[in-house]
Amino acid sequence: MSDALLGTRALRSLLGDWKGGGGPLYQALFDRIRLLVLDGRIPANTRLPAERELANALDVSRTLVSSAYRELREGGYTISIRGSGSVTRVPGRASLAVDSGGGFLDFTKAVMPASPGIALATQQSMDDFGRYLQGPGYNFEGIPELRDAVAARYAARGLATTRDQVLVTTGAQSAIALLSRVLLGRGDRALVELPSYPHAYEALALAGARLVPVNVTAGEGWDTSALEQLMRRTNPAVGYLMPDFHNPTGESMSVELRERTIDQAVRAGTTLLVDETSGELDIDRTEDFLPFAAYATPGDEHSVVTIGSVGKTIWDGLRVGWIRAEPGLIRTLAAARPASDLGTPVLEQLIVTRMLADMPEILGVRREQLRTGRDRVLQLVSERFPSWNAPRVAGGLASWVGLGSPVSSQLALAARAEGLLITAGPRFGLDGALERFLRIPLGYPTAQLEQGMDALDRAWQTIMRNPDSGAQAYGDVA
Ligand SMILES: Cc1ncc(COP(=O)(O)O)c(C=O)c1O
Repeated sequence: MSDALLGTRALRSLLGDWKGGGGPLYQALFDRIRLLVLDGRIPANTRLPAERELANALDVSRTLVSSAYRELREGGYTISIRGSGSVTRVPGRASLAVDSGGGFLDFTKAVMPASPGIALATQQSMDDFGRYLQGPGYNFEGIPELRDAVAARYAARGLATTRDQVLVTTGAQSAIALLSRVLLGRGDRALVELPSYPHAYEALALAGARLVPVNVTAGEGWDTSALEQLMRRTNPAVGYLMPDFHNPTGESMSVELRERTIDQAVRAGTTLLVDETSGELDIDRTEDFLPFAAYATPGDEHSVVTIGSVGKTIWDGLRVGWIRAEPGLIRTLAAARPASDLGTPVLEQLIVTRMLADMPEILGVRREQLRTGRDRVLQLVSERFPSWNAPRVAGGLASWVGLGSPVSSQLALAARAEGLLITAGPRFGLDGALERFLRIPLGYPTAQLEQGMDALDRAWQTIMRNPDSGAQAYGDVA
């Protein structure tokens, strides 16, 4: 595999304020680069800048950078390749995103335990499965029963949909990747929210897009004037949006903003990729919304493509998602699909076909689980972290907590030492910003939430005790 080069400026911006944390500076540099590798902001097989260049850019001694690089090598985070310098590796023992084993509690994924109905639905699906065993197992668009069931579910929610408007994918992630590949050319602009779901940024960038961010703030929502201006000035080819229970802020768009955004997209020639994977996880939102595509006026439907999945409602292990779009685009996507995968496993599709019929009941259970999780997290934050600001979300799987100071990476590292894997705020951004935020998942069972908050408490005490920590340097922690 060829190694990507990480430029000195890019690394400096990813490092942000790396000097906080106390202890020797080489250790702080090692720690920050280690976190960037562990949480995927520096991908594996990336060539780090040469020691001398980085030392100049950070205005530190070459010896300091050498020591940090040595620690990275010894910890298995990089290897030295003759002629290529230090190239990143994901260390087997300490893998963050991939594996929650090793005694760690893993809060890096905002998910819920599997829906209890899966076992029964799997048994029942075995009869249907027999029929499929007679024929070829490939189905680029998805099996007809599931396409019908997805269409029926949209219709039940107020958005008339037919089978030929649905393509089944291998989770929402493969939907995002396929749409990016088909709709984007190299150098095209893609409007994205900031913060957002990081693997969507990655899929869009991999397809060659230049990302144009618009801010979403917990408690305030979308920067609507920036949204309008960026749409008009940059004519993005696509806009990737989460109008319902946005990940990670939990915000939802008003009806007016939905209509206005579609209108602007139509004028700019932008295709909106609307990710509704968490869109039905309502706890107590006061307003009911239709699926986003229902707000398109007749004739403008082609501007809205919807991405769905059962990953956040039934179970992410099923790997079943879908795209809802105009039939012409569905055919184009199905034709382009085989380059990356040849379809979604049949048995999982049959299971989901059965379970979609029970969606109202399944969502009722999820609502109570999320309500319990949200209320417990809010209570624990107010008792233990009075200086934090945890917004009370009306749905979705996470709270985007304001820490009051730019210490999220430091806190994530300290939490790791306490047995908790949690993703630092900047992972949800583009340029090393968002150090003042931490995403806390709400969907875990209460005992695990409490265990995680205990670990965060210990980690917070550690960084607060440290006189050199960024928090105190900024002096804005109450
Ligand atoms: C906003 C968003 N979209 C898509 C996905 C991926 O979903 P799936 O598991 O269906 O691939 C996730 C998973 O975390 C997500 O948060």
